Amino acid sequence: MKNGLVMLLALALCATTALAHQGVKNPAVMARMHGMKQISDNVKMLGTMAKGQIAFDAATAQNAARAIARHSAESVALFTAPETDPKSEAREVIWTEFDDFSAKARDLETLANDLANTLNSLDDVKAAMKPLGASCKACHSVYRD
Ligand code: HEC
Repeated sequence: MKNGLVMLLALALCATTALAHQGVKNPAVMARMHGMKQISDNVKMLGTMAKGQIAFDAATAQNAARAIARHSAESVALFTAPETDPKSEAREVIWTEFDDFSAKARDLETLANDLANTLNSLDDVKAAMKPLGASCKACHSVYRD
């Protein structure tokens, strides 16, 4: 019974992920979107903490920053091949400017790694939201539709 419930929850979680990238057929595109989703989920969690909707917890905040750094680092490899899909929002210029694209992914990695060592108070989390948002925008404004 208990296992059944765990299975059901796992299925529900998968379904949510699948829905976020509905209709994506290329597994390589799906994988890089999934990585972005992980980054976004962790940023959202920090946002709820910054707003006081969940209690500040240094370990939780630092782990989220670490996860953002890890997924940002992985995105370089996930985006290396010029894979496409009708549902993809990636611009082709990624692959003519891949050095710059990678540098932007590494900027987010560096920022998030710094945060993983310095998020020690609610004020730290509040102050982190702006540079985090700027880092996403720096890449999305050039490389995402
Ligand atoms: C180095 C560039 C880069 C950085 C930095 C970056 N992104 Fe992205 N992101 C992309 C690209 C390119 C896509 C489009 C991928 C596709 O559709 O194939 C994307 C897609 C997404 C998506 C949509 C995923 C989906 O399910 O379709 C979300 C959400 C997202 N990014 C969140 C973020 C957040 C939040 C940050 C900052 C904390 C961030 N990204 C930083 C390049 C980046």
